[in-house]
Amino acid sequence: MERYVIKGGTPLTGEVEIGGAKNAALGLLAAAVMANEDVTIENLPDVSDINHLIDAIEATGATVNRVDRHTVTINGSTIKSHIVDYEQMRKIRASYYLLGAFLGKMKKAEVALPGGCAIGSRPIDLHQKGFEALGAECIVDHGFISAHATQLVGQHIFFDTASVGATINVMLAAVMAEGRTVMENVAKEPHVVDVANMLNSMGANIRGAGTDKIRITGVPELHGTVYSTIPDQIEAGTFMCAAAATGGEVLIRNVIPRHLESISSKLMEMGCVVIEYDDAVKVVAAEELRACKIKTLPYPGFPTDMQPQFAAVMSIANGNSTITETIFENRFKYVAELNRMGAMIKVENTTAFFTGVGGLQGAEVTAPDLRAGAALVIAGLSADGFTTVDDIVYIKRGYEHFSEKLRGLGADIQKVNTDEEEQKFKLKVG
Ligand code: UD1
Repeated sequence: MERYVIKGGTPLTGEVEIGGAKNAALGLLAAAVMANEDVTIENLPDVSDINHLIDAIEATGATVNRVDRHTVTINGSTIKSHIVDYEQMRKIRASYYLLGAFLGKMKKAEVALPGGCAIGSRPIDLHQKGFEALGAECIVDHGFISAHATQLVGQHIFFDTASVGATINVMLAAVMAEGRTVMENVAKEPHVVDVANMLNSMGANIRGAGTDKIRITGVPELHGTVYSTIPDQIEAGTFMCAAAATGGEVLIRNVIPRHLESISSKLMEMGCVVIEYDDAVKVVAAEELRACKIKTLPYPGFPTDMQPQFAAVMSIANGNSTITETIFENRFKYVAELNRMGAMIKVENTTAFFTGVGGLQGAEVTAPDLRAGAALVIAGLSADGFTTVDDIVYIKRGYEHFSEKLRGLGADIQKVNTDEEEQKFKLKVG
């Protein structure tokens, strides 16, 4: 089985280029099907989640032209089916954005319900509530959710919880609804803004994305565009943590520093130096990492998708750190794995308590989900000796060329398939 083998202990140094944001790109791809003209999306990350969604879109009959590894052109005029089956949905949870997109465009959509996910129960009641407010009838039956309407009409919708998924999905459904939609208590994440910006470049009329209230005036149709995905906040944050954990100095290029503020400020609290440039940040690791406290919150708060990577850094920071998770109930699955590497972490309810240890020891560990997998790689890079991270299929969902980019910073890391390949790498790096 494919796994990463890491020899830890090398401080990461140099420059790394960040790709397009996976979570933004998922919304952009769904939005693209809504036009009957060519929509070209650039700066897509070449990761399995994105490629699965493109396959799901192609399976509905849309014309898909993969211009290059990071660019796709989609034309929704040839779509034949409004159904996304379980086979597609199983591979990629965010296929559910096609529910909002097809409902908005064709007034009907049917998508297999997303399966249970590793980090929590992840309900979709808020998506459903938004569609119903616009006049759709939603039926959950035999593992599918279907939504259809004779007409969608703009409404005032208040969301109980700020949900990224529900905000994007309902926004997609509302852009071609009759009249005016006001969505309150919406998510403000950069990827919500990115999807709104692309829809506007396709002729939609969306105002207020990035604030608590989004106002949409429906338009009869959307046209083609050429749009470039924003840089990935979480990929950037992951490399920032890798620099901090290994005592390194890394320039992280092609980022929007404003999107990284909550991450930068925590690293500074831990004693690192973070220098912001126009489209880059440099992290200079602390001489001695200090403990800190983190509470995950919706943007602009500290992102839940960054807490596992910080856990790897906190494990070796001096003193007692804590992480309180407020978004997903099952996000501490990495704790047992980090503890196997010598970390001292205890979880009580929604808080993980860290007693900093001087350093970690390499071990065989398993990635429980995407971001936790990245955290284990960071831990392995900082640890003494060899670490093997199994189940890297999760990591490949969201990180393009992860081991290659880390090697570019001097890390001893190799993706291997067999025990022989693992031995060969170990002999090579000593
Ligand atoms: C998105 C991100 C994910 C990130 C999360 C929070 C994508 C593809 N994924 O996930 O990486 O960790 O935002 O930043 O962009 N909730 C409900 N009912 C709903 C929808 C959500 O109760 O209908 C709850 C969830 O259980 C959770 C909270 O709302 O507690 C936020 O979830 P949400 O923002 O929707 O997460 P996702 O969009 O699934």
